[in-house]
Amino acid sequence: MREGFLALVLAAGEGTRFKSKKIKVLHTLLGKSMLDYVVRCVLKLKPEKVFVVVGYQKKEVMAEAISDRVGFVVQRSQRGTAHAVLSAKGVLAKENKKDLLVINADLPLLRPQTLRPFVAFHLKQGNALTFLSAELEDPTGFGRILRSGKKIERIVEERDASPSERQIKEINAGVYLFRIEDLLLTLPKVSTRNKKGEYYLTDMIEILINQGKRVGAYKTFHPEEIVGINDRYELAKAAEILRNRKIKSLTDKGVTVYDPSTTWIDTDVRVGRDTVIYPFVYLEGKTVIGQDCRLYPFVHIIDSKIGDRVKILSSTMIEKSTIQAEAQVGPFSRLRPKSIIREGARIGNFVEMKNTVFGEKSKAGHLSYLGDCTVEENVNIGAGTITCNYDGQKKHRTIIRKGAFIGSGAELVAPVEIGENAYVGAGSTITKNVSPEALAVSRGKQIEKSGWSKRKRKK
Ligand code: UD1
Ligand code: MG
Repeated sequence: MREGFLALVLAAGEGTRFKSKKIKVLHTLLGKSMLDYVVRCVLKLKPEKVFVVVGYQKKEVMAEAISDRVGFVVQRSQRGTAHAVLSAKGVLAKENKKDLLVINADLPLLRPQTLRPFVAFHLKQGNALTFLSAELEDPTGFGRILRSGKKIERIVEERDASPSERQIKEINAGVYLFRIEDLLLTLPKVSTRNKKGEYYLTDMIEILINQGKRVGAYKTFHPEEIVGINDRYELAKAAEILRNRKIKSLTDKGVTVYDPSTTWIDTDVRVGRDTVIYPFVYLEGKTVIGQDCRLYPFVHIIDSKIGDRVKILSSTMIEKSTIQAEAQVGPFSRLRPKSIIREGARIGNFVEMKNTVFGEKSKAGHLSYLGDCTVEENVNIGAGTITCNYDGQKKHRTIIRKGAFIGSGAELVAPVEIGENAYVGAGSTITKNVSPEALAVSRGKQIEKSGWSKRKRKK
């Protein structure tokens, strides 16, 4: 038998207390599923292999396929945590390793640095089983650890506990290290004699003790990480802790966050030094923000890349887009997917863009829609300019060459190209290409009827 340990993440349970169509462990906190957090944490402990026990909605859970270093084990019906471990019996025997880390998949707050001393403790003690415990002010919902003096006797689940047992504040965290040999021999002895009628993994403690095996608890100094998320309120509370953790890590690296309590930054978001984040900013997904940026209130950015020294003014939404250095966007702008704003460009009030490349130092200051558009450098887009990119069936492109000037209120009916340095008169509806250096005007000629208003009043 070889040294090194395997890891087993229990993720087959539906999570009925979530009252969701979706399995509990795929619910997300700050952009990542609970399962993702737990698997990443376990991988950092460098086990030989990681297996995830799947069952309920197994296709969806496997599609989350967190890492190619993760294998799956199927638990056909969900009959309890001991039953979940038993379903891995085959792989455990085959892998021929000494120890197994078992961890519930609803513990997204656990950090590898909290588990490392626990793993080291187990290996040093040579226990048949070591489990992680914590002392909680409010132990409601957890399995309680029963001791006589210092000696561990067993774990009792909340619903099976007597009123006095419920007073116990030392709880089971849901993380265990087993010597695989003892586990495989003893697991079939677990029964369903409890209120839920399930096979409880926690019964292993008493069974192993009765066999004279060494069982120990490692009490963590970080009880705040032991939140097992069983309902959506606990999900919200855990997200709050992760949110603070993220903001603290950014402020430690030189980012200013004016109001941590109203700022949401997803776990995988990166933000550069000396960037200033105002209240009510939400940064989601894989967003990357450069250095020395300013994100003003109510900015919402999803999966986007923002260069250095960019200003994003209030109430702006940016999705799957790129903004290069020194550009300015907002207030009240909406950049839909595949927008690229080049260096030093300015996008102003109430401007919407989609699938548009907007050239260096070009400007669109007010009330425009630019869809499926290529705008080269130094272009001026007048207020209210609209690209008519959709003919009811297909989308078409508009190309605006460098130095062009589009007057206010123009409609550019795609496909159409405006040549270099060309002018489009205000209020024009442009349906044909405009040559470089030309002026195109297309609007009704202005006529004037003198005294018309006065005559109308007399009628
Ligand atoms: C469990 C522990 C409890 C501990 C708590 C810590 C048991 C019996 N109780 O209770 O002592 O204090 O965690 O958070 O273990 N799962 C399966 N297959 C199943 C049932 C569950 O894979 O048949 C998985 C779930 O997806 C979940 C994990 O096991 O990730 C734990 O299940 P859960 O129902 O959350 O257990 P708790 O009631 O929280
Ligand atoms: Mg739980």
